[in-house]
Amino acid sequence: MARVTVLVAAAAAAAAAVATSALGATLQEATDTGVAFLADRCAAQQPLLVALADAVGSGDAAAARAAYVASRPPYEEIEVLATNEALGTLDARIDARPYAFDGGEDDPEWAGFHRVERDLYRDGNLTAAAASTAALRIAVDELCVALTNNTAGVTPTESLDGQVALAFEVAAKKVSSEEETWSDASLLIFKHNYRGIWGLFTPFKEAGLAPATAAEVDSAYEALLAAYAAVDPAGVAAAAVPARPYSAVTVAERAALMNATYVFAASLRDARDALLSEESPTPAPASSRMEGVSTPAVVRDEAYADETAAGVAAFAAQCQEQQRVLVPLRTALAAGDMSGARAAYAAGRGPYEQIETLAAAFEEEDTAIDARPDAFEYGELDPEWGGIHAVERALYRDEDVPAALAALDGVDAAVASLCTKLENDLSLFSATTTWEGMLALSLEVPAKKISSEEETWSDLSLMIFRENAKGIRALYAPFAPRLSAPVRGAVNASLDAIQALWGTLDAGNDWDTGVNFRAFANTTIAERGSIHTAFMTLHRSLQRGAAEVIVAATPKPSPGASPAASPTGAPATSPTATPVPADDGGTCFPSSATVELEGGATVAMADLSIGDRIRTAGGSFSPVYIFSHADPSVVAEFVQLTTASGHTLRATSSHYLPVGGGLVAAGSVTVGTWLTLAGGRTSPVTAVATVVATGLYNPHTLDGSLLLVDGVATSTYTTSVSPGVAAALLAPLRAAYAVVGWSTEALSGGSPLWRLLPHGRAVVGVEEL
Ligand SMILES: *[C@@H]1O[C@H](CO)[C@@H](O)[C@H](O)[C@H]1NC(C)=O
Ligand SMILES: *[C@@H]1O[C@H](CO)[C@@H](O)[C@H](O)[C@H]1NC(C)=O
Ligand SMILES: *[C@@H]1O[C@H](CO)[C@@H](O)[C@H](O)[C@H]1NC(C)=O
Ligand SMILES: *[C@@H]1O[C@H](CO)[C@@H](O)[C@H](O)[C@H]1NC(C)=O
Ligand SMILES: *[C@@H]1O[C@H](CO)[C@@H](O)[C@H](O)[C@H]1NC(C)=O
Repeated sequence: MARVTVLVAAAAAAAAAVATSALGATLQEATDTGVAFLADRCAAQQPLLVALADAVGSGDAAAARAAYVASRPPYEEIEVLATNEALGTLDARIDARPYAFDGGEDDPEWAGFHRVERDLYRDGNLTAAAASTAALRIAVDELCVALTNNTAGVTPTESLDGQVALAFEVAAKKVSSEEETWSDASLLIFKHNYRGIWGLFTPFKEAGLAPATAAEVDSAYEALLAAYAAVDPAGVAAAAVPARPYSAVTVAERAALMNATYVFAASLRDARDALLSEESPTPAPASSRMEGVSTPAVVRDEAYADETAAGVAAFAAQCQEQQRVLVPLRTALAAGDMSGARAAYAAGRGPYEQIETLAAAFEEEDTAIDARPDAFEYGELDPEWGGIHAVERALYRDEDVPAALAALDGVDAAVASLCTKLENDLSLFSATTTWEGMLALSLEVPAKKISSEEETWSDLSLMIFRENAKGIRALYAPFAPRLSAPVRGAVNASLDAIQALWGTLDAGNDWDTGVNFRAFANTTIAERGSIHTAFMTLHRSLQRGAAEVIVAATPKPSPGASPAASPTGAPATSPTATPVPADDGGTCFPSSATVELEGGATVAMADLSIGDRIRTAGGSFSPVYIFSHADPSVVAEFVQLTTASGHTLRATSSHYLPVGGGLVAAGSVTVGTWLTLAGGRTSPVTAVATVVATGLYNPHTLDGSLLLVDGVATSTYTTSVSPGVAAALLAPLRAAYAVVGWSTEALSGGSPLWRLLPHGRAVVGVEEL
């Protein structure tokens, strides 16, 4: 929607009210007023981060934690606008949690408050906290610029959608998921989420909302504040810091807060629909708040047909077990035996948590069985939501037998459909999906589930994680004999370590059969930290396994085939080289583009070799481990960007450059766009031209970070594949280089691995796997 002033029908109908408004008669003005409120909050955020940096720098850990909590409120009000594209990009740098990134907390891109939280509370590492606080401050400074005078261009639709989405998110996800895992300050977060929504909403009321609708929102907000006050009487005041520790809030209190938040969210939705009745409302935001995790591997599947089939067969047996163990739950419910039903629920939850390792192959059943409300636009109010978590809610929170039986019907049907697929349709499964599933689940547990209490109401998360580990082991076992001894030893050891950890965390509850689980709410932060470490270790060892599987599945080059163009200047034309189609939007720099070597020398792309350590945009040096393009002979068109600082960058037009916290294709850069230079300095583009030059090169460094090419920060990604997918595809290869020790020959352009890399059209195919 263009940034024009809009006066919708509902507003016209309420013209009398509008005429008396001092705040303005248009939705855009109402939006701008709300953004100005948040700009003030951003101005308040900046000194709080200065105080945090000072406290961290003083070396006083307790003072640093206090300053951290004190610094949290303003952004939690501002994040209501993450629906706006520019602000959403900044949100990913300020407030994302590890599961929004392919590498979880190992991902170099992960930054913001939660990284500081981890450094201060879980790791107690002030050195790390100083760096993460510094990065956070840079992003917040950019945020304040974007909010001033609504430079980000927030539209009325974005503002209203943001209000509705955040209100539902608090109800559907945050209240159950412990937003602040390590600092335990979640109540503080919720309060400021509410305040942010309210700050944006108030101007809309004045801009033409029908009085009855406005009154509905007002009373819902009052009820919400009352519910909050009941949970945290001392913390409800706007300026109160800190809040009551969220881990001490009971299930009943969480339920009351959640309920009030849903009522408020629904009233906001009505208000938005009334205000935008002439617009078609856009769906939920694509901000960091809702993203999942995926870490694809690329495998030549037919090389592992037997191993894959063995894993699926194990899951088919688990699926039948799942059907059996749900029977006692139904029996207990039918008898109205609530405590028996809860015991049967706990005993019946395991098998699917193993099978879900392969959930990507049966998304429909997975959603019907295991989705949580936060996956739906309107949370628990969404008619589409059902499944095992609806059973959980009915048993543990609401004690509602008919609701539990109805939800169980849906689960039974979906499980039956799943068993049929596992028994009869091997075409749905492949070695690639198997490894993708193992990598994704082993990362999801540490990056997301541990912090989020997978089973909010039943408190059975320790069981969930245990079954997740068993599922991964079941899929991994058939592959184990095909791995090298060191990697097999590493994966086995990490699986064994998880089992041993359960022996201490949940002593007396047998690993294979025990169903008397310790409440997850009763685990300490240190214990959660050890679960986290154990699963991250598993994930890293599986990455090494994935790298070996890729290498083993790759056919050896046939003898006599002439090598493809190599980065060190091998033959220009070769039948096995992948040509760069004119339209593939290659991700490249010309032969003459330069990078800086460790030691200070400048070298042209054409003279760069695998293993050379080159300067990255962050200022450090990292070795080149692969080229996704290296062709010295092709003549191609490049965009040439000249900056006020005198730098000249040439790159293909679809090559992404970091701009304002996001990525912009070189071909979309215009005069006045600010590019990033060494040391984080920026300089505006003063001239844009199209030039013809020789060679196409795209080196990737081991740390996966932005490069400095011709003195300008550049990504190594292209518009032809999403950067997240490209990074994930490269991750196992990076691990292989670092750990398995591939020769530079194997990684040069002459290797068949070449074809597996993200370049042009080939990547589209990989993405669709
Ligand atoms: C603290 O963090 C720094 C920077 O990330 C790291 O180099 C160091 O090893 C960490 N210290 C400990 C004790 O983990
Ligand atoms: C914001 O707008 C006001 C009024 O137009 C103007 O005076 C001020 O300079 C603007 N601020 C910025 C940072 O652009
Ligand atoms: C939720 O709140 C509404 C309105 O305040 C109330 O009618 C309803 O009973 C509440 N439900 C629960 C489960 O507390
Ligand atoms: C590793 O685990 C696999 C599968 O569980 C097993 O078959 C194999 O014997 C184990 N190897 C070692 C060295 O422990
Ligand atoms: C946590 O577990 C311990 C021992 O298992 C028990 O004594 C304690 O009451 C539990 N605390 C809570 C809050 O459940």
